[in-house]
This record gives sequence, C-alpha cells and structure tokens, in this order.
Amino acid sequence: MSTRNELLTYLKGHQGDWISGEALSRRLAVSRAAVWKQISKLREAGYVILSSPKRGYHFSRASEMLLPAEIRDGIDTEVFGQKEIAHFSELDSTNRTAKELAIEGAPEGTLVVAEQQTKGRGRIGRNWHSPFQKGIYASLILRPKLPPAEAPKITLVTGVSVAETLLALTPLKPAIKWPNDILVGGRKICGILTETGTEMDAIDFVVVGVGINVNNREFPDDLKETATSIYRETRKAVDRVTLMQEFLRQFERSYFLFLRTGFESIGKRWRELAMLLGKEVTVRMIDRTCTGRVLELDRDGALLIKCENGELERIYSGDIQVH
Ligand code: BTN
Repeated sequence: MSTRNELLTYLKGHQGDWISGEALSRRLAVSRAAVWKQISKLREAGYVILSSPKRGYHFSRASEMLLPAEIRDGIDTEVFGQKEIAHFSELDSTNRTAKELAIEGAPEGTLVVAEQQTKGRGRIGRNWHSPFQKGIYASLILRPKLPPAEAPKITLVTGVSVAETLLALTPLKPAIKWPNDILVGGRKICGILTETGTEMDAIDFVVVGVGINVNNREFPDDLKETATSIYRETRKAVDRVTLMQEFLRQFERSYFLFLRTGFESIGKRWRELAMLLGKEVTVRMIDRTCTGRVLELDRDGALLIKCENGELERIYSGDIQVH
C-alpha cells in the first residue's frame, strides 16, 4: 500500500480523534515532513483534514468527491472498481475520454468518472445535463468477446443494473424505457450511452456511459417536466460513492451472467422492469416511423411491434414515444 493510502486508511480508522504528526510519522515509518506532504495531497484531492500545532491532525469527514480510493474502499467486486479509476473534477465527456483510453489499450474494467461534464453526451446528438457533484457521470470500458451485433444487449444489461441499484438503495420504483432510459414516475432519472469500437468482425471495445441524476434539487427549464433525480423523488440526499459502488457490483453481476450464460435471464429481468410491453408506441427510426403495440422483447434484445398496418416489426434502435 502507498504511504498516502496507508495514511488515509489510518485516519479513517481514527475518525474524530486527534493524532499527532509524530505518532503518524512513527506509524508510517516516514518523516514528519513526508506526513505533512501526504496530508496536503489528500486535502488537494478534497478530503477535509484539520490540523493544530498542539494536537496534530483530525480527519473530519470523507470527501464529497467520487475519489478512486473512496470507490475502492470496501467494494467486493472482482473487476469493476478494481482496475484503474480515472477521476476528473471536470471533463467534457467521460465517454470521450474512455474511448481514447480504450483506443490506447486500457483493459476491461477501466472506469472514468467526473464531478462535472461540460459536454456530457446523450443519444442522437443530445446533451446530458451534468452539474458539479449532483450526479454520477461515469464510463466503463468493456472488452467482451462477442460479435458486434451483440453490443446493443450491453445497453439492456446496463439498464437492468441501474434499476437494480436504485431498488437496492432507495424506495423508488424504477422502470426501464427501451432501450436505455430509466424512469421514475414517468420522468428520466438515468440515461445510458453505449459506444462500440469494432475491428474486422469483432468488438474491440465497448464504452458504457451512465448518467444518473442523484442530488439535483432543480433542473433547467427545458428539463423540468421530463427529468427527475433521487433527491427530487425522495427529498433525501444520497452518497454518490455508495451509489457508484452498488452500480459496479450490480453491473459486474449482470454483465458476467450475460457473458457466461447468454441473454436469457437478464432479458427476463429486463421484461419485469420494462414499462413498454403491451403499450401503444411510436418509434422513430433513421429511415421510418412505426406506430403500434409492443408485443415482446425478443431473445436478441429487439422490440417486437405489431404495427398499425398489421405487420410485425423487429426494432433494434430508435426513439420511442409511449401513448
Ligand atoms: C441519453 O439518455 O441520451 C444518454 C445519456 C448518457 C449520459 C452519460 S453521462 C456519462 C457518460 N458520458 C457522456 O458524455 N455521456 C454518458
């Protein structure tokens, strides 16, 4: 363990106590100047550590930030949350950075998180509202050994993981809107943007970007009617690190289940959580629009729609409106 992590672990274990610089330097077997240097670095990273010439150091509360050390602390996953976590105070888009890292060869499980995004990307060229420390803006790099046609199922796996996370940590009843929105009370609480890099006939990488509205108290006018957050629904702030850890746990479970056993059991859970089956919808695709009733999510993750003209359509991607 690095001196910095050793110091952090020790301070966390003695929260509320004052610890002298001398005791810390003995404990970590480094000079008092080195202790001071590491304390300064932890403060720069967002930790609140008080100091007094007479009493020493006092760790008052964990950082508000989604710091790698906080995300790793106590997480029981094998891959997700265990590989490199690239943390940024501000980024244009975590998906863009994750794609760059993936092209440079970053392994499966690499996570990019930001406290704020200045150009958070949504589907079909939309923006994702990403104010400072209000939500989770995170992108995971995956390297599944699958043909490219299987990639859209990863979006569905991610939707199930986010819904399970909300069910585990909040009293909310999330619903999945195909293919990749999570709604609460008819308003969007999470969006997922999956981007795939292919090489020949195989997936080289998939970047799964997840935006969750967590502690937003308000939204800009254009989102007021359509967006919501955990805080807005429950009037309780949620610790973003706990939420991030639970998502990584849920994602690891669902993703490996999908890779090992196929889409069947995730598809079953998706159907239970989806709000669309049996509903009248209009789906806008690149080249056409189809209005009809949703019959099924088939084993490939496509929506089966009985259109007004009586024909059956299998739809893999589009923008859906429920009537
Ligand atoms: C959508 O519903 O339109 C998808 C929104 C996806 C937003 C997330 S936030 C983290 C990641 N980085 C991005 O730029 N976008 C995704």
